[in-house]
Amino acid sequence: MIEFRKANTKSNFEVIAQLADTIWREHYIPIVGKPQIDYMLDKYQSTEAIASQVQDGYEYFMIHYNSNTVGYISIKKEEAALFLSKIYVLSSYRGKKIGKSAMFFIEEKANAYHLNSIRLTVNINNINSIKAYEKLGFINVGPLVTDIGSGFVMDDYEMIKKL
Ligand SMILES: CC(C)(COP(=O)(O)OP(=O)(O)OC[C@H]1O[C@@H](n2cnc3c(N)ncnc32)[C@H](O)[C@@H]1OP(=O)(O)O)[C@@H](O)C(=O)NCCC(=O)NCCS
Repeated sequence: MIEFRKANTKSNFEVIAQLADTIWREHYIPIVGKPQIDYMLDKYQSTEAIASQVQDGYEYFMIHYNSNTVGYISIKKEEAALFLSKIYVLSSYRGKKIGKSAMFFIEEKANAYHLNSIRLTVNINNINSIKAYEKLGFINVGPLVTDIGSGFVMDDYEMIKKL
């Protein structure tokens, strides 16, 4: 059984920061290298960074699968779309339609906000996730390079799903 629980306490943010540390190191070090991941985890996925994003309107949800916390999502309501900022599932739980269930949940949120599209960014070399997003109905609308400071850039594609 899959459940999505809103993260709104410091201990929830700690759980998410721990998941991010595990998933990002395993998944992204081969793609962008350790220095960039050390920098990005500290800047975007520390307990304090998550708390600050929540203050700024980001909503975080923990994904529970048969009572285990196996991943997390972050979304933000924008003017024209729902921004899917983060969706991460532990590697041992991938391919079990958890991402697909999460996408239904996110679509419900977009509908509740009267938004008719979801947008996300994904690293251009994150091939498996790009394939999953395509299966889930997203279309690649082109490259998006973002300078994140300290000499690092995020080399992404932007993908959009119309609802
Ligand atoms: C991307 C991610 C969230 C997807 O979650 P998941 O639970 O593994 O995905 P699901 O099992 O729900 O699969 C969703 C759909 O994508 C397809 N899919 C998943 N991985 C795929 C792959 N590597 N190649 C092709 N299709 C794939 C599935 O077949 C399914 O489509 P279907 O229902 O038509 O068969 C998860 O794999 C993940 O956390 N990846 C690593 C972290 C990451 O890169 N996150 C995204 C950052 S932008």
